Amino acid sequence: MRSIIKTNSEINILRDGGLIASEIFGHLKREVVEGNDSCSLDKYAEFLLKKYKVKSAFKGYQGYKFNICANLNEVIVHGIPNKTKFKSGDIFGLDFGIVYRGYYLDMSATIEIGEVRPEVHDFVQKTLHSMNQGVSAAISSNTISDITNAMRKNLVNETFQLMKDFVGHGIGKQLHEIPEIPGDGVSPQHDLKIFPGMVFAIEAISVFGPTNNYQILDDGWTVVTEDMKYLSALFEVTVLVNQDGPEILTPL
Ligand code: MF3
Ligand code: CO
Repeated sequence: MRSIIKTNSEINILRDGGLIASEIFGHLKREVVEGNDSCSLDKYAEFLLKKYKVKSAFKGYQGYKFNICANLNEVIVHGIPNKTKFKSGDIFGLDFGIVYRGYYLDMSATIEIGEVRPEVHDFVQKTLHSMNQGVSAAISSNTISDITNAMRKNLVNETFQLMKDFVGHGIGKQLHEIPEIPGDGVSPQHDLKIFPGMVFAIEAISVFGPTNNYQILDDGWTVVTEDMKYLSALFEVTVLVNQDGPEILTPL
């Protein structure tokens, strides 16, 4: 599996790209406020991508037409930007990626808008914690299943699920490389050993409810929780495995 181990020059590009992705993400995050909408965010992303002279990782991907995925409340992933105004109490999952000098960076975070119910706040924090547990397991000599197990550890119960079918992934010259890294279930590469130089997009994608069943809306993209009954959150960072541990290339 040497081919999925990045060279030093690739790593340098990914590091620089990660800083740019994080900077743009920071600008976008600040606009996730009451009264704004995801359509405007997408336009702002378009402006920032031009300003920083990088390309969108998502636009053009399998026909996707937008620069961000806009995952409001019951939307799990791949939400298409729309004109619904953000209101106090909403949670908004912003998913964004760039291509920098031929290499992809991918990141997402769930942002609380205005006053969010305490149990919803806890749910969002649990999802972030899940991602961080996954990142901590991205160490040399562990396997991919160790990342999945770490993401689930002490978190999954009747009210907190992680997704099987929407997964973290290797990343580099392509947005989605092997291995698949699910939050639940078994990756086809579950026993792949982790080595320094591997780069992963580690994603915790959660449902605040008893099931991780999902539906896809008629737009063909937007993935929502069962009957849109439950909230969903997600956090994702691009991570480089070093000799001495994981390095987050796209700080949130
Ligand atoms: N972060 C998502 C992923 O890793 C983004 C893909 S959205 C798409 O799959 F529009 F590009 F499909
Ligand atoms: Co991803």
